[in-house]
Amino acid sequence: MREGRSFHSAPDSPRLAVLRRPDRTEFWTETVGREPSVYGERWTESDGRSYRSFEPARSKLSAAIVKGWSGPVPTPGEGWLYLGAASGTTASHVADLVGPTGRVYAVERSLRPFSRLVSLADRWPNLLPILGDAREPTVYAGLVPPAHGIYADIAQADQVEIVLANATLLLEGAGASVLVALKTASMGRDATAPQHVRRAEELLADLLDLEPTVRLDPFHKGHYLVGGSVRAGRLGPARPTVLRPRREPSRERRRR
Ligand SMILES: C[S@@+](CC[C@H](N)C(=O)[O-])C[C@H]1O[C@@H](n2cnc3c(N)ncnc32)[C@H](O)[C@@H]1O
Repeated sequence: MREGRSFHSAPDSPRLAVLRRPDRTEFWTETVGREPSVYGERWTESDGRSYRSFEPARSKLSAAIVKGWSGPVPTPGEGWLYLGAASGTTASHVADLVGPTGRVYAVERSLRPFSRLVSLADRWPNLLPILGDAREPTVYAGLVPPAHGIYADIAQADQVEIVLANATLLLEGAGASVLVALKTASMGRDATAPQHVRRAEELLADLLDLEPTVRLDPFHKGHYLVGGSVRAGRLGPARPTVLRPRREPSRERRRR
């Protein structure tokens, strides 16, 4: 770990740190977790804080930020639902961005990456791994309080429909954020990448005030970040957050 770099906080997300170099701008996250490195990213310290490099070639969220994403980014104290967390490369950075008072509910359906995600959560106390299928949000709804944002990276043909189902059930309401890392190659051969992007935008536009979509090439070929903030009046009141244990029938009623 090296000392002495000069970081500046990004205006919209104080735990996202900007490091200006002569030839490029790097993004780092002030970390909540403990070493070792999660995926080979660099760690450093500055002014008594620990930072991890947020590598655009490894994370679509980082690539979107590098490419000028102007929409919402996780901020301290927020709760984010993360669909398709895999072994936690990007989810660990989202957990850094929401900080120690925020929480990331990280859904992954495949056992192998999920087991690595569970080990990661030992070192990131604000990361809650959930083994589940994002197509069935009612199954994990009881674990997720109304969320400030959804980040989805599940590379499925119906990824936008899956996000909308989760948003309707689990987002807290107007102003909440939705970010979708679209993999157009997973969306069928019946349309070109721009046509897939346009269709995704149309599907999301009823719920969201969309931000300009960002193309993630050359970091992630054929990928785009699409999203924005929930429009007023588009979501009903958040549903109760915790499933109540079913009450046992009273002895009185059982005797009858
Ligand atoms: C491209 S990888 C995610 C990479 C990760 N977001 C990152 O940046 O670190 C896609 C992940 O989505 C998961 N996935 C696909 N469909 C899913 C579903 N219906 N529910 C939950 N996870 C799903 C896959 O198992 C895979 O781990």
